[in-house]
Amino acid sequence: MKLKITIAIDGFSSTGKSTVAKQLAKHLGYIYVDTGAMYRAVALFALQQNFLVNGEINNHDLIEHLDDVIIDFKYNPQLGFSEVYLNRVNVEHKIRGMEVSSYVSKVASISEVRKKLVALQQELGKSKGVVMDGRDIGTVVFPNAELKLFMTADAEIRAKRRFDELKSKETIQVTYEEVYRNVVERDRLDRTRADSPLVKANDAIEIDNSNLSREDQFEKILNLVKKIV
Ligand code: DC
Repeated sequence: MKLKITIAIDGFSSTGKSTVAKQLAKHLGYIYVDTGAMYRAVALFALQQNFLVNGEINNHDLIEHLDDVIIDFKYNPQLGFSEVYLNRVNVEHKIRGMEVSSYVSKVASISEVRKKLVALQQELGKSKGVVMDGRDIGTVVFPNAELKLFMTADAEIRAKRRFDELKSKETIQVTYEEVYRNVVERDRLDRTRADSPLVKANDAIEIDNSNLSREDQFEKILNLVKKIV
């Protein structure tokens, strides 16, 4: 497999995009870029700076201080993937909690934030040999990607996966209902925002993994890659 391509993986939250993206990147020797982590890091920045008014992020304050946000990734050889850094601090764990999850979709709807992060994503993927996951990779970031996947799964199944993941990590208690509501609300916000809403690109291949094992999903996608390279 000599030819390096761009693989864009979009879809709803908690559809296992990052799991399959990491598997593929490892197998192909590609870079993996988790773009959701970038939006989460910006949301964390806003919370750290206390840019809140009546419990909502104040867009104006965040936009004014966007130049102070430095996001980069560093490869962690123990984990086998790159972790996200906010202003030189590893925030890989902090960004996955419920607090950031409940603010991130609003932050991701701010055009100025998207403009900054899309430019960074295009830079990270400019040499190809990249697997990038997010919501607008196949439609906005890399509309010419050679392989575009669109991942879906039932909301209850996604909430259950996310709940199990959070239960094993988070110190504060979360209920399944809270996680389910967060998943459904993020779907709604991601699909209905004005700038780069979550839509399936015309040439994307839809994969519903509600009833697919990780292994079967990986095999299926690897076969799609093999057809191209
Ligand atoms: O994939 P994730 O759940 O970590 O993404 C977090 C949020 O960021 C999600 O609500 C949608 C947003 N996002 C986006 O708008 N565009 C992307 N390319 C990636 C994520």
